[in-house]
Amino acid sequence: MLETLVQLPDDPILGLMAVYRNDPNPLKIDLGVGIYKDEAGNTPVLDAVKKAQLHHINTETTKAYIGPAGAPGFGKVMEALLLGADHPAIVEGRTNTLQTPGGCGALRAAAELVKRCNSGATVWVSNPTWANHIPLMGDTGLQIKEYPYYDRETSSIQFEAMIATLEQVGAGDVVLLHGCCHNPCGADLNLQQWEQVAAVAKARGFLPLVDIAYQGLGDGLDEDAAGLRILAAAVPELLITASCSKNFGLYRERTGAVIAISASSIARDATHSQLCSVVRANYSMPPAHGAALVEIILSSEELTAQWHSELTLMRNRINGLRQLLVDKIVARGIERDFSFITREKGMFSFLGVTPEQVRQMRSENSIYFVDSSRINIAGINNSNIDYLVDSLARVL
Ligand code: LMR
Repeated sequence: MLETLVQLPDDPILGLMAVYRNDPNPLKIDLGVGIYKDEAGNTPVLDAVKKAQLHHINTETTKAYIGPAGAPGFGKVMEALLLGADHPAIVEGRTNTLQTPGGCGALRAAAELVKRCNSGATVWVSNPTWANHIPLMGDTGLQIKEYPYYDRETSSIQFEAMIATLEQVGAGDVVLLHGCCHNPCGADLNLQQWEQVAAVAKARGFLPLVDIAYQGLGDGLDEDAAGLRILAAAVPELLITASCSKNFGLYRERTGAVIAISASSIARDATHSQLCSVVRANYSMPPAHGAALVEIILSSEELTAQWHSELTLMRNRINGLRQLLVDKIVARGIERDFSFITREKGMFSFLGVTPEQVRQMRSENSIYFVDSSRINIAGINNSNIDYLVDSLARVL
């Protein structure tokens, strides 16, 4: 049977990791996969995480099964981080949080849950969206459609077109929104725009799903969750999928959460049973380690303060690099306006070059980024930025 399988091309994002690794060019630059890198190009374990690990090793009493929902303490700290501890949905007992294997596990669980509610549902995703949103949601059998989001010509959000499309979406469908630091374009809705989206969601009755994988890497922890909090205050039901990969640097520990806010505490219990059943049928239960570390950090004032300061360093470095890149581009005499990069948030922006130019920069200069021209800003540093800008000038 297996001989009927055809060979698939590499994953458009993860595939770049291996090609980069095998490139012997000492000047090579990795702007591909969304991983935070420091000035030396490393992705170190955060000090807050190291301390939590030591604490965990000394206090862990068992490796017995954790159950499909994961650790309840992790669910609580994640709800507070995302929604604010005193959010009405938490106080009224309408939230349901399951620990998942990363944000991907959360997205898949959310999709399976939606399918159980309405197998004919359409999931509306932004154009463009993170490439893996499509298989994570679509491979469940849900239909995928796009709403307009980012205009590459003007490097800005097409908000009127987005709203006009959302005004056609009805109850029974899902609209997937990026909570902050939009992947791949970096262009985020402002608070007024979130209010408008919330009003349309309320009027039309569709279910919003906010995917938030970069909380704290845009403007700050609370600032980056402001849009999802606006939605959570406006609509009776909401799905949230969150990742601890980037903000806690826990990538390979696969740590995430799916939060379902229901209209009532009775609906909450039914949703909980369905989510646990979805998980049991997929991966049975989540890995424990990363979530245990997050729970330890967020339950300790001292470790939380340390994590905040490490996260602030990461955010400030990325925002500083955005400005530096634009300054270097101007200084190099490139006439095209790249100032939009300073207005965008998080790890990603489009460089705005064609797929042919992306491949040219890869083959001639060993600069690796996704064909869409999405770059990981955190991969830039003071040692490689001039080489990058020179290469850009050449292809332009
Ligand atoms: C990315 O977009 O590069 C990251 O979210 C990593 C991934 O899994 O694609």
